Amino acid sequence: MKKNTNKKVSIVMGSQSDYKTMQLAEKTLKQLGVSFETKIVSAHRTPKRMYDFALMAEKNNIGVIIAGAGGSAHLPGMISALTQIPVLGVPIESKKLKGLDSLLSIAQMPKGIPVGTLAIGEDGAINAALLAAEIMAINNSSVKKKLKNWRSKQTQSVKRTPK
Ligand code: RP5
Repeated sequence: MKKNTNKKVSIVMGSQSDYKTMQLAEKTLKQLGVSFETKIVSAHRTPKRMYDFALMAEKNNIGVIIAGAGGSAHLPGMISALTQIPVLGVPIESKKLKGLDSLLSIAQMPKGIPVGTLAIGEDGAINAALLAAEIMAINNSSVKKKLKNWRSKQTQSVKRTPK
């Protein structure tokens, strides 16, 4: 089995409009020294692109897929149906239902095809990147060390009193 050291994370999103949120996943992976690629892949507007992406993901050395989608957010589930690479779904905050539609679409996958679902919006994008890095760290000691430092800095940044 190939080690995660050579693998990258793929960040995909249903629309250009999702990038505002998903760029935080990029930023977080950069901080952790995890290699990644970013693509727009829509399940309903570019179904062939989605199909080809998912079928080629293993050959393309992808270790984890982060998929952001909003509204009737079927992209993460559709990709997960086409590959055994772990898929982490980020529900994008939609205008009409504030992302509740996205959250339920991504989280409520029927049994058999899993999607790890994160929080709505920016928190979800950042946590998806952290979780992807944790998965990559299983076989990558450099990422493991960077994650440890990241958490330690976060802990140090919390003041003991509010003033
Ligand atoms: C989904 O539809 C995308 O993930 C996006 O969140 C939502 C709206 O897309 P646009 O109409 O802004 O392109 O496919």
